[in-house]
Amino acid sequence: MPDHVPVLLSEVLVGLHLTANDNVIDATLGGGGHAKAMLEVCAPNGKLYGIEADERTLQETKGTLNSFGQRFIPLHGNFRNLEELAKANNISNVQGILFDLGVSSMTIGDPTRGFSFQADGPLDMRFDQSAQTTTAADIVNEYSALQLVQLFREYGEEPVAERIAQRIIDERRSQPFSTTLQLVTAIETVKHRRGRIHPATNVFQALRIAVNDEYGAITTALPAALRLLANGGRLAVITFHSGEDRIVKRWMKSLPDADVTINTKHVIAPTRQEQLANPRSRSAKLRILTKI
Ligand SMILES: C[S@@+](CC[C@H](N)C(=O)[O-])C[C@H]1O[C@@H](n2cnc3c(N)ncnc32)[C@H](O)[C@@H]1O
Repeated sequence: MPDHVPVLLSEVLVGLHLTANDNVIDATLGGGGHAKAMLEVCAPNGKLYGIEADERTLQETKGTLNSFGQRFIPLHGNFRNLEELAKANNISNVQGILFDLGVSSMTIGDPTRGFSFQADGPLDMRFDQSAQTTTAADIVNEYSALQLVQLFREYGEEPVAERIAQRIIDERRSQPFSTTLQLVTAIETVKHRRGRIHPATNVFQALRIAVNDEYGAITTALPAALRLLANGGRLAVITFHSGEDRIVKRWMKSLPDADVTINTKHVIAPTRQEQLANPRSRSAKLRILTKI
């Protein structure tokens, strides 16, 4: 499975302004690339609380970061419950919090998770298979045509949402959807490839956002993160598409000047060099604020 290359790593480290013995939260631990670098900066005594919804990823990353001993505290859970997770683990007044949203390369590369349109697998897409029940197949098989169109438009910005929704409705009458390949094939019958972008990209993005209620989770977590920061502490958020970036941008703008300083008046994007070395970074945007 492909390793996950952390995006905007040096920009995150510089932007969070961490120093020795700072305590931090990585709300999206993933493969632990950002976490490892933050643990190194916060040595010798700073702690990193790493939250991860995906149990399998958490177990793997525990192994990767075990050399940091008690300084690394892995937490299984959804960052939507940041407040509760913090209370249960006596976390407060941290100097830095990072959200690096989305899915890791390892999870996308694992066909059994159903995130990839490039490999056949169950149409699942749940980040946390132990806590979530609704899968992408449930949505594809149960939403009305109108609900599918809205979903593909709003979360996927899919220009041919109606044609794809109709195709799904027609096909599922005889054969309910259960695999990624079945959905990809249905999409390809009404949408042809133009350029580098795969025709199923937008629909898969929309389904993933819906299955995991990603907009709801980040909307709930951001104010909780601000409450957990110490005065002078910093919050960094990396987004990968316009819908989630809009949520972060609007929330940051809504905060009173007396409470925060926005460090990224202009959003930070990966250099051309990083984009070439790590194509997954292409759409990344980093926003940072400091709590006053
Ligand atoms: C882009 S990856 C993070 C990669 C990480 N920064 C690294 O360097 O390896 C995002 C991770 O956050 C997890 N995740 C996404 N949404 C989550 C949520 N609401 N709560 C907890 N974890 C979440 C995903 O399972 C995934 O492993």
